[in-house]
Amino acid sequence: MDNPFDLDATISRRDLLIAGAASAAAVTAPPATAGERAPVSDLPTPLAKVSLNINGQAHALALDTRTTLLDALREHLHLTGTKKGCDHGQCGACTVIVDGRRINSCLTLAVMHEGAQVTTIEGLGNPQRSHPMQAAFVKYDGYQCGYCTPGQICSAVSVLDEIKRGVPSHVSADLTARPILSAEELRERMSGNICRCGAYSNIVDAITEVAGAQA
Ligand code: FES
Ligand code: FES
Repeated sequence: MDNPFDLDATISRRDLLIAGAASAAAVTAPPATAGERAPVSDLPTPLAKVSLNINGQAHALALDTRTTLLDALREHLHLTGTKKGCDHGQCGACTVIVDGRRINSCLTLAVMHEGAQVTTIEGLGNPQRSHPMQAAFVKYDGYQCGYCTPGQICSAVSVLDEIKRGVPSHVSADLTARPILSAEELRERMSGNICRCGAYSNIVDAITEVAGAQA
């Protein structure tokens, strides 16, 4: 029986080199159909129409289907209050409220929200008519650089709504009872909103005051 380790017995060195050269050429040669395909950059942009109600105002947009809700807000509608931090769903700077729920707008495509009601920080209030949560953040110094603040405020408004609706969190002791509004609950629920300036304690104080006023 041939020894498979004894190459001389089965194939000559010359045959081996020829076979190697042939397979290298096959790897480097362009695919047979390459000439028939247009480069990706020449392909038409896939556009889609999407209607959104943003801060009470109807908008009809024609967007590249790959546009995130965050980019639609910032780049197409120039609502730059919503911030892009990580663009990967990890910091919460892009938090907005869609149909009553907070979401990371960098993680969702605008075309997925046809007909949705979107509220951004601009829609909550402005310096002349502040939302109570905005006023509380100012009162308690719930920010330093302010970059995370629009996302923090949208999240905080949504958190109080979640608690009111009885939605439990990871730290709720009783999943069937209405959650108790504690610092622990607030810290857990706000944990997706990162503040690099470390204003966490003041943010919890601000949310607690608004919750107390709503009780
Ligand atoms: Fe969306 Fe960071 S920018 S989570
Ligand atoms: Fe600066 Fe939060 S206030 S990152």
